[in-house]
Amino acid sequence: MKMVFLGPPGAGKGTLAAMASEHLSIPHISTGDLFRAAIKNETELGKKVKEILAEGRLVPDDLTIALVRERLAQPDVKNGWILDGFPRTIPQAEALQQISPVEKVVNFDVEDSVILFRLTGRRVCKSCGKIYHIVTMPPKNEGICDACGGALYIRSDDQESAIKTRLEAYRSLTAPLIQWYGERSLLVTIDGAGKPDDVFQIFVKAIKG
Ligand code: AP5
Repeated sequence: MKMVFLGPPGAGKGTLAAMASEHLSIPHISTGDLFRAAIKNETELGKKVKEILAEGRLVPDDLTIALVRERLAQPDVKNGWILDGFPRTIPQAEALQQISPVEKVVNFDVEDSVILFRLTGRRVCKSCGKIYHIVTMPPKNEGICDACGGALYIRSDDQESAIKTRLEAYRSLTAPLIQWYGERSLLVTIDGAGKPDDVFQIFVKAIKG
């Protein structure tokens, strides 16, 4: 299955993608994670996008499409993939149709108040990338990853000013994809407001239909 996860920042795409990837045995590909890895490794791409991510703006389409094209050429995607955070603009969606056409787009519907609560409480493991929330999904020991013992950190774009910019970018550039994919009969919208296990159950039913 070739699947795209669509939704505002903090909707829970990364959290559900980790569960869905295990359930479906297909890789979870997050463009945000790929950019953050490039920044951490101080690659040429990382240097170009560091400031853009910290401010919450979108990376230009040409750089992002090239990154996804390269990732989707890797051998582990032969049985499908979950793309989380791509496409985010109509030109990116058009490019994806050329690279490898998507079969299902799952759109996460979550209110702004929930988004703000989720993003301001998010913590991420520096080593393995596992996602936590200080209230809804806290680690057993504060600041330490349950899975690998790595240190947890706050993403640079989880500050309030960057969250505002990300929400604006989502509304103007990404939300139009809901209609775009709807017109192509590829879209299923699920309520992302519940607990992760409940959202996962809704997801499993939705992709069967
Ligand atoms: P990216 O990393 O994709 O960020 P995002 O889309 O803003 O999404 P998030 O990772 O913030 O949220 P999420 O929906 O995955 O939520 P999560 O599961 O973590 O992109 C970052 C940046 O990279 C962009 O701003 C841009 O600069 C660049 N970029 C990336 N892709 C690009 C593209 N295609 N084009 C151009 N630029 C691009 O959950 C959030 C929190 O809520 C966590 O704390 C979690 O524990 C908690 N939570 C999750 N689900 C639940 C639940 N069901 N109940 C309770 N708590 C929950």
